[in-house]
Amino acid sequence: MKIKAFAKINLTLDITGVREDGFHTLRSVMVPVSLCDEIEIQQSKCFLFDCNIKSLVDEKNLVVRAAKRFSEKSGIEPSVSIYLEKKIPFPAGLGGGSSDAAAVLKGLNLFFGEPLDSSALFELAEALGSDVPVCLLGQPALCEGRGEVLTPIELPKKLCLVIAIGSARLSTPEVYREYDASGLAVRNDSDAFLASLVSQDIERTFGNAFEPVADRLAPETKLIREKMLSLGALASHLSGSGPSVYGVFECKEKADNAASELEALGFSAYYCETI
Ligand code: C5P
Repeated sequence: MKIKAFAKINLTLDITGVREDGFHTLRSVMVPVSLCDEIEIQQSKCFLFDCNIKSLVDEKNLVVRAAKRFSEKSGIEPSVSIYLEKKIPFPAGLGGGSSDAAAVLKGLNLFFGEPLDSSALFELAEALGSDVPVCLLGQPALCEGRGEVLTPIELPKKLCLVIAIGSARLSTPEVYREYDASGLAVRNDSDAFLASLVSQDIERTFGNAFEPVADRLAPETKLIREKMLSLGALASHLSGSGPSVYGVFECKEKADNAASELEALGFSAYYCETI
């Protein structure tokens, strides 16, 4: 069985507070995009995990952790081999690991004849990470709480995107810590976004509260955003806690051109679309 694990981008990301457990409350519109990893599940004598990127073959990989949680909850020994073809850059703020975990939960449940219902799968997803539930949902949604309270949304149009990333890396906990220390005013891009859904003019409402922090920790993220805009992007923002940046373009042709220009500058750039 082969399953695609789609990346996500954050069209908005407002941080609204800090919980007692240290996690932050947020409001973020997350959308799946066509850039994806591929996961193959096959019958095997025992559980095996392999990946095209050998440094990811680890007990701590979310693929292995998702398979363990599935096994504990369903009581089924996962006698399967799971092969992960990693194509989504990481760590990037694109939800690659979360999406792999969600795809494994969904895939194993199908493989073993659906022993778990949807609410059990979402419970497992929530325990695996803040972005795993929205990846399991697999459609655009306003994510609230820690990220697990989901309200599905329908985008008024398909977005043509370029996702670009340089060599800088950002650690998610560090970005959250720096954001807390920065004293930045709370943004509310999400409400503006929801209000804009009645029109086609949604791009002006996109935003990400982490941008001032990422600009300081990894200045190339700002450079990429500015380059995207100079290449005709309707909007360009950091995705999640970065360091990947997306640009929204009017059409595939303009996006392809921007991707080539960004590649020429030494960045990795991927054309994709919202799904
Ligand atoms: O849930 P996940 O494992 O993706 O979170 C990674 C880290 O990001 C957490 O350990 C925490 O530092 C930060 N985080 C947060 N609030 C959220 C999501 C993530 O503080 N809502």
